[in-house]
Amino acid sequence: MGTALSACGGGKGEPTLKRAYGETFYVGAAVSPETLVSDGELILREFGGLTPENIMKPGPIHPVESRYDFREADRLLDFAEENGLLVHGHTLVWHNQTGAWMFRDGAERASSALLDRRLEEHISSVAGRYRGRIAYWDVVNEALSDGPGFYREDSPWYEIMGPEYIEKAFRYAHTADPEARLYYNDYNAVDPVKREKIYTLASELLEKGVPLHGIGIQGHWSLEWPPLADVEAAIDRYASLGLEVQITELDISVYEFREREALYDGPSRELMERQARRYGDLYALFARKGDALAGVTTWGVADDHTWLDNFPVKNRKNWPLLFDGEGEPKPAYYAALEGAKEIP
Ligand code: XIL
Repeated sequence: MGTALSACGGGKGEPTLKRAYGETFYVGAAVSPETLVSDGELILREFGGLTPENIMKPGPIHPVESRYDFREADRLLDFAEENGLLVHGHTLVWHNQTGAWMFRDGAERASSALLDRRLEEHISSVAGRYRGRIAYWDVVNEALSDGPGFYREDSPWYEIMGPEYIEKAFRYAHTADPEARLYYNDYNAVDPVKREKIYTLASELLEKGVPLHGIGIQGHWSLEWPPLADVEAAIDRYASLGLEVQITELDISVYEFREREALYDGPSRELMERQARRYGDLYALFARKGDALAGVTTWGVADDHTWLDNFPVKNRKNWPLLFDGEGEPKPAYYAALEGAKEIP
């Protein structure tokens, strides 16, 4: 990516995301091993924290029962420490991107006792290895239902262990790294119905003395959805439990969810201006909510690397981030910076 980066922005006194918001909440970006290299300069200029997009997930870091692969995670931690960035670990427990072996015992399904032992072993190995070096951990990701039920019942964790896997995961994580701030992370977390499920889960965990410190609102949003009022209400609702809140995976798709028609040829000026207004409104809200927010992380750095090119529709190019494919600031970036004026 652009060698011109150092020339554009961030010079002495010029605003950057980190300078504008750093005292209010940390500004993070999800990174891959490749973007950490290709966007390194841009990351150091604008961001104060990193979330590994994939490499700390159970599948990549623990591909088979007898072997961990910590190489990429070690590199990320070293990069973060050399450069004074904090790290948001993602994620210890999820129903996706987890080796199939985790839930098997030979030809059979693993028993609840076996899966519990593996849960503890996995968490103590991963969170234990990086003890004291990870500021935040997403301990459990996406455990609640978007439908009428409460829990995500088709998760193998739930099927085998029942809902207890959630509190156990938090307890194991706290033992492994007593200083890390432990999060429950989910999407649709500002939808009023799912919000109340997350609120209920969090209150029950706190009631039981489970070490839960924060709620991650993923923030995979679009130009039209969700309403700002829902974002604000969710932040307030979680904060009312005395929990920290973070926007953990922000990106603003230029499409509505499964839209297939009206594919855009490119990021037209008009489209990028619309996106900028949306980002501006959101960051102004985040600025006003600074007391409740510990961090705001975008799910990627620049538009040349985004999971939304293939989700939820394959091969549908998207432009959801604050920097363009060349690493240049988009209108959305300047709008996000403007939002800082709302910091009380
Ligand atoms: C996504 C990654 O961005 C992709 O590269 C990967 O193929 C699938 O997972 N919610 C989460 C993230 O918590 O871990 C997901 O990341 C996006 C949705």
